[in-house]
Amino acid sequence: MYRTVEATRDLLPDEIGPWQTCEDTARSLFRCYGFREIRTPIFEFTELFARSVGEQTDIVSKEMYTFTDRGGRSLTLRPEGTAPAVRAFVQRRIHRSEDLTRWYYTGPMFRYERKQKGRFRQFFQIGAEVLGADSPVVDVETIEMVLHYLTALGVSGMRLHLNSVGCRACRPPYTDLLRQVLDPQIGSYCKDCQRRFETNVLRVLDCKVDVDRAAGLPVLVEHLCDACGEHFAAVRDGLASLGVEFDLAPRLVRGLDYYVRTAFEVTASGLGAQNALVGGGRYDGLVSQLGGPDVPGFGFALGLDRLVMILPEEAGKSPVADIHLVVVGSEAMRRARQLATRLRHAGLIAALDVTQRSVKAQMRAAARSGARHTLVIGENELSAGRATLRRLEDGVEAEFALDALAELVEEIRHAGSR
Ligand code: HAM
Repeated sequence: MYRTVEATRDLLPDEIGPWQTCEDTARSLFRCYGFREIRTPIFEFTELFARSVGEQTDIVSKEMYTFTDRGGRSLTLRPEGTAPAVRAFVQRRIHRSEDLTRWYYTGPMFRYERKQKGRFRQFFQIGAEVLGADSPVVDVETIEMVLHYLTALGVSGMRLHLNSVGCRACRPPYTDLLRQVLDPQIGSYCKDCQRRFETNVLRVLDCKVDVDRAAGLPVLVEHLCDACGEHFAAVRDGLASLGVEFDLAPRLVRGLDYYVRTAFEVTASGLGAQNALVGGGRYDGLVSQLGGPDVPGFGFALGLDRLVMILPEEAGKSPVADIHLVVVGSEAMRRARQLATRLRHAGLIAALDVTQRSVKAQMRAAARSGARHTLVIGENELSAGRATLRRLEDGVEAEFALDALAELVEEIRHAGSR
């Protein structure tokens, strides 16, 4: 028997309801904030991720699914969506026609990570990117949008962790300082930190092993240049003015290299060790690094697999049939088929029982499926031209002429809206 590859999975129809709710809610809510959807290829040239996410990051150095195609090109299954979005922005010269671009995307991403609760090798993100403004208003609006989205879905126990990681002016002097402080003690840090000390010293702050020791290290927010300090203050004020609560997280360093200034994560209770639900921040400089003009950017991505894990149960229940047509006999089947088609064209979910089992067995199947009504069509109904609609919730019945479609639809809709 063939099985799914480790840390990947099938999502069966009974499980898909909450996914669709999350996607549908994102579509309708993000639209209110001016975002439009973009779809990029699942694979890109490897170089794109190496240049943007960063050669030394865990994602690029250890986690990418990279392969060589028949043309000898090195390609990679996308581990994230920001680099592809920026690549599309540059390639299609969007800045020439738009002053401000707001895009969102949803789809699978691929990272070869250790399997764990909430961590998959193929996982799904919903992400949003704003290109064209360095104003802190963009940071505030976009963070507020993702929190609004999570609240709309009924997620509870969220916390917004906020930091500034400075810019190309103020970060180097700070990292020099950090290196000086760490130099005499780094030998006693974990192996990963010893490597990070050489490759990306900021990541030592984020160490999950030496948490207590890292807590004593100098933090970047205390060494920001004036412009970064002002930007960060404006983001904090803006969030506060909208009533958005946040925790300052001076040791928050994201695992991708492109961030400057604002960096944030949203965690949620109920997720276990992998409790980051959303990650994002500002990435001024990335567009020009990928060959485009000097256009600033800000965005986030949220992990759909994790969101679905903590969604309240009522969100995203799979839809059930409005009506289950119980059919006996071949002439009745002809009539029922026409009726089912008409009901579907009227926007109702109609299940047509094609089994030709006993009425009792078909009624049982209807109840098991959670259908809201049944309508039996057999020889008696055909000759009378009438059939009985039964509401399964309370057994209330009403008789309808088989050709009075409008009344039938009205009754079913009315029951649905109660
Ligand atoms: P990221 O923090 O790497 O950021 O990923 C964002 C979210 O994707 C995480 O918070 C988590 O919920 C989910 N995620 C990441 N890896 C996995 C995994 N292996 N299994 C399940 N879920 C996972 C980015 O990807 C950036 N592109 C975000 C961004 C957009 N920054 C600016 N714009």
